[in-house]
Amino acid sequence: MKYGSYIVDSPICVSYPRQVHPKVDLQKGDLMKTVLITGTSSGYGLEIARHFLTQGWKVIATMRTPREDVLPRSERLRILALDVTKPESIEAALEACGPLDVLINNAGIGVVGAFEATPMSTVREVFETNTFGVMAMTQAVLPQFRARRSGVVVNVTSSVTLARMPLAAAYTASKMAIEGFTGSLAFELEAFHIRVKLVEPGYAPTTRFTSNGGKRMEGLIPEAYAPFAERTFAAFAQPAAVTLESDVAEAVWRAVNDATGQLRFPAGADAVALAQAR
Ligand SMILES: NC(=O)c1ccc[n+]([C@@H]2O[C@H](COP(=O)([O-])OP(=O)(O)OC[C@H]3O[C@@H](n4cnc5c(N)ncnc54)[C@H](OP(=O)(O)O)[C@@H]3O)[C@@H](O)[C@H]2O)c1
Repeated sequence: MKYGSYIVDSPICVSYPRQVHPKVDLQKGDLMKTVLITGTSSGYGLEIARHFLTQGWKVIATMRTPREDVLPRSERLRILALDVTKPESIEAALEACGPLDVLINNAGIGVVGAFEATPMSTVREVFETNTFGVMAMTQAVLPQFRARRSGVVVNVTSSVTLARMPLAAAYTASKMAIEGFTGSLAFELEAFHIRVKLVEPGYAPTTRFTSNGGKRMEGLIPEAYAPFAERTFAAFAQPAAVTLESDVAEAVWRAVNDATGQLRFPAGADAVALAQAR
C-alpha cells in the first residue's frame, strides 16, 4: 500500500482501469455549493464549518443539540439537529437540508483506557458513532450523489490509524474500520464520479474531545495497568507536535477539492510526521 494513493494491495484491484478524475468544480466562484458537516458544536467540526463559510459555501452545520451562538451569522448557514446514531434523526436532517454536494463525517467520540477494563457497551457506543454513524450518513447521501453523478464524502478518522497508540484499542478499531471502508468505497464509486476521502487529524489538546469523553473513560485503568498508563499519559502530556483546528479544516478543504485521486489527508504537524514515517 502506498501512502497517498488508492489501496492497491489486491491484484484484483490493480487490474481495474483507473477512472480519469473529472475537473474539480467545487472551487470558490463556481456555482454555490452546499456542505453538510456532522458534529459542529465544537472542535474540528466547528472550524470546518467556519472555513467553508469563509470560502462562500452554503453550510449545513449539524449538532446533536443545535446552538445558534457558536458560528457567525450568515444567510448561507443553516443549523440542524442531527445525531448520527439515530436513523430517524439522519432522515429528518437530510429531508430538511435539501440537495448536498459534500458530506463531512466529522462527529466522533473517544475512549482511552485498558481494553480489558473497557465494557463492551462502551466499545459498542464508540462504534455506533465513529463507525456505524459514518456508514449510515454515507448511505443516506449516496442515492442523490449517484443520481447527479457527483459528490464528495470526507471521513474524519485519526492519526491513531497511522501509528500504534496504547490504551486506545477500541477507539483505534472504530477508526481503522472507517479507513478500510473508505478505501473500498472510493474505488466502487469512481464510476459515478463520487469521491470519498479520509482526513486523519493528529492530537488537538484544544478541542472538547477529552472532556467529552471524561465520563466514558472513568475506571478504565485497573491497578495492574497503572504504571504503564502513568508513563503513557506522561508522554501524551508532552507531545512533540500537535494539531490545530485550522489544520483539519484546511485538510478537509484540500480533500474536498482534490482531483488527483489522493485518498488520505493527514492533518496537523504530528499526523503529517507519522504519515511520512510510515
Ligand atoms: N481531538 C483530537 O485529538 C482528535 C484526534 C484525531 C481525531 N479526532 C477526531 O476528530 C473528530 C472531531 O473531534 P474533536 O476533537 O473536534 O472533538 P469534540 O470537540 O468533542 O467534537 C466532537 C463533535 O462530535 C459530536 N458528536 C458526538 N457524538 C455525536 C453523535 N452521536 N451525533 C452527532 N454528533 C456527535 C459532538 O457533539 P456534542 O457537542 O453533542 O457532544 C461534537 O460536536 C472526531 O471524529 C474525533 O474522533 C480528534
